[in-house]
Order: sequence, then structure tokens, then C-alpha cells
Amino acid sequence: MIYLEQFSYLLASALFIIGLKMLGSAKTARKGNQYSMFAMALAIVITLIISGIVGPLQIIVGLVVGGLIGVVVAKRIEMTSMPQMVALFNGFGGVASTLVAYSEYMRFTGAESLDVNVTVVLSLFIGTVTLTGSLIAFAKLQGIMRGAPIVLPMHQILNLLLMLGAVGFGVMNVMEPSVQVWAILIIAVAAIFGVTFVIPIGGADMPVVIALLNSYSGLAASATGFVLSNNVLIIAGALVGASGLILTQLMCDAMNRSLFNVLFGAVGTNDSTGESGAPDGEQKTVTRYTAEDAAMIMDTVQSVIIVPGYGLAVAQAQHVLYEMGELLSARGIDVKYAIHPVAGRMPGHMNVLLAEANVPYDVLYEMDDINDDFQNTDVALIIGANDVVNPSARTKKDSPLYGMPILNVDYARTVMFVKRSMGAGFAGEANPLFFDDKTMMVFGDAKAVITGLVKSLKEDS
Ligand code: TAP
Repeated sequence: MIYLEQFSYLLASALFIIGLKMLGSAKTARKGNQYSMFAMALAIVITLIISGIVGPLQIIVGLVVGGLIGVVVAKRIEMTSMPQMVALFNGFGGVASTLVAYSEYMRFTGAESLDVNVTVVLSLFIGTVTLTGSLIAFAKLQGIMRGAPIVLPMHQILNLLLMLGAVGFGVMNVMEPSVQVWAILIIAVAAIFGVTFVIPIGGADMPVVIALLNSYSGLAASATGFVLSNNVLIIAGALVGASGLILTQLMCDAMNRSLFNVLFGAVGTNDSTGESGAPDGEQKTVTRYTAEDAAMIMDTVQSVIIVPGYGLAVAQAQHVLYEMGELLSARGIDVKYAIHPVAGRMPGHMNVLLAEANVPYDVLYEMDDINDDFQNTDVALIIGANDVVNPSARTKKDSPLYGMPILNVDYARTVMFVKRSMGAGFAGEANPLFFDDKTMMVFGDAKAVITGLVKSLKEDS
């Protein structure tokens, strides 16, 4: 029996790793997800059967009920609300680790070895921080609490004291494992720390924090794996911990921010704010066009690069955008999509959105692969994007965007923006490109404008 258990764990672990690797490409991501799902189901079922915790009927009922809840939640959730759903899932992972570690601690109070006692402390602390931190992240993104940073007097000193308290109570718990009050104090301090750690971070920086909390939920699970001496939990937790950390770093790099700045800068804003006035206070005007004007331009072009951004997700215009792309391609126009790594509000946001609308993967290009093409392109069509194409990132040293690599849309022969107003993007930075002579501003909700464009294109043909 022990061989079956360990072999299943080995198989599940290998499938987790293969699945993770496959998530690295849009083409294989779906399959990778399925491999990992199968691996998780295998690990759970084998653990429950071999340890005799529950009978087959309970396993089936649990899988069906849990699976149904997951399917309903995943189907009903809007793509733009995905970050808060992930936040909740991270929180559930954290609390699960805390509960398992605490119940094990209660079961063997004082009778276990040093390493188990240490991992109990880690599990209780990291699991609880993940729970309360994730709940705050959820509340901020869901609009239940203010999204702007909340900074308490002497905030960082308070955090430092909480950390020191946790270390002190942790040491006491390891030295005196039979005194239960230490474990309770660790949980209490961790619960407060989770809150004070996340409240000073702006709502729009939450995706980075959620990736970090995701990593914490993995670390908590891994620590719990040591408590239970369960190999697959140790490995799965470590994989989540490492991949969450890598994702956090990738997001910070793509925004040209350090993790330190995101966590302690208290600079994140709630959402798109402010008017994108003319740069340097100049009195400039923009040129306004209609969807019909945009369609007329399309009559004369040979190449179009579409740049999707957060506004596309807000407007849910991906399906009609796909239709437009198909119509343009049918006219012999070369149509490509340029994806900036931090377009939207979560990693892979645009890829997922466009995949939902069946846009073929081979016309999606990452920034580095397409940036040289803009100079030979007739139209850069920017739909609900702003920061990721703002040239101030190259030149304006005091801009929050300074240093962030952008898509070189300004090198295209014509630049077309589809957005509702002169409003700035997430960073609140004015975009000088709106005022450029070769820029056409088509104001309106992305779905309404693209629908109008599609209508005009169809009438033309
Ligand atoms: P943003 O710079 O936020 O710009 C989005 C634009 O969409 C806004 O200027 C807004 O202008 C427009 N918009 C909103 N609703 C619209 C609608 N219904 N129809 C048409 N337009 C609409 O988006 P971006 O260019 O995708 O850049 C993403 C930003 O988010 C970056 O600064 C990035 O650092 C940050 N961020 C990204 C992530 C990840 S991982 N993706 C995580 C955290 C932060 P109007 O109001 O005028 O319409």
C-alpha cells in the first residue's frame, strides 16, 4: 500500500511540474491545467483512501459538491473580477494550512520533534497571514473597502513589532510546545499582520500582492506537508510558492517597479484617474473621429496591429474585436495583435480575453517580438489601452511610468485610439500621443465603437 501511495505522489508531482511548464505557452496552457487538475485529484483521493480518513462514498460526494461549486463560481465570474476570485482561493489555501497545522498540533501537543514544531509555527503564521491578507485584497478589489492605500501612524514600526512578536511567540512555542497559548498568540499576531501588510497597498497594485499571497499560500501548504510528513503536499506547496514568487517578480519587472516599492511605496492608486491633459501644459487639441471614419481608413491600409488594454476587458469587446479582425483579414489586410506583459490588470489578462473570443494564437505577439514591426505598419489600433503605449515612459523622468518598456505604437504610420475620454490610465500619467498629428481619437465605449466599425466594414463590402 505504501508503494502505491508513494508512486501516486511521484506521478502527481511529475504531472504538476509538466502542467506548470505547459502553462508557459498559450497553446499548451489548457492541457497543462488539465494535467494539474488530474494530479491534484489523484493526490487527494489516494491520500484519503490510504489513510482511511473517509470512505469512497464521502470522497465521491465531496468531489462532486466541491467540483460543482468550483464550476459555478468559475463560470459566473467576470474576467475583470478574476483577481479577487484568486485572492479568495489563496485565502482558502492559507486557512486550510492553518487549520491542518493547528489540529495536528492539538493532536500531539508537546510530543513531537523539533522540526515538526518549527514547521507548525511556520504553517500557522504564513497560513493566517495569507488568509487575512487575501481577504483585505478581495475587499479592496471588490470595492467593499477603500481601494486607496491606508497608512496608519507608524505603520512600518507596527509591522516590525508584529513580526518580532511572531518570532518571539514562535520561539516560545517551539521551546514549550505543550503551552497552547503560544500557538494562539502566533495566529492572532499573524491575523493582524496580514491586515496591516496589505492595507497600505493601493487597490490597483493588488494583482502583484495577490501573486505574492499565492506564493505564501504555497509556502504554508509546504510547511503543512512537513507537519504531516506528506511528500506530495511538500512538493505541490513548494511549486506554488516558487511560481508565485517568480510571477510576482515578472509583474514588477514589467511595470519597472521593485517589489519593495509595491509593498512599501504606498503609491498605488485605486483605478484610472485624472485627465490626460496636454503635456507640459500646452494648449493642444486632439482630432476626434467616428467609427465610420475609422472604417474608411481601413479601406486604404495593408497592415494593422491591434493593441488591446484594460478598457477592452471593461467593455467586454473581445468577441466583436475578433469579428473585426476577421473582416480585415478577409480584405487581405495583415492583422496582428500586440500583447504587453502588463496590459489589463492581471498576468495574461489579454491572452485569456482574446482566447475566449477564439483569436488564433499565431496572430498574438509578445511585446519583444512585435515592437520592431510598428515602423512598417499602417495603423496601430489601440483599444482601451493607455499606459502600455504611453511614450512618456521613455522620456519623462518624473513619470511613474518612466523606464517601463512600452509598445512602439507611435512608430506606426497612423495611431488610432479607441477610448471613452481623455482619461489617463492606471498610472494617472498624461499621454502626449493623443495630441500627435498622426493620432486619431475615436471616443466611445470600446464595444460600441468596434461594433460600429464592423457595421461600416460590412456595409462597405
Ligand atoms: P490603462 O493604462 O489602465 O488604460 C486603460 C484605458 O482604458 C483607460 O485610459 C480608459 O480610458 C480606457 N477604458 C476604460 N474603460 C473603457 C471602455 N469601456 N471602453 C473603452 N476604453 C475604456 O490600461 P493598460 O494600457 O492595459 O495598462 C495596464 C496598467 O495596469 C499598467 O499601468 C500596468 O502597470 C497596470 N497593472 C497591470 C497589472 C497586470 S499584471 N496586467 C497589474 C497591476 C497593474 P477612458 O476612461 O478614457 O475610457
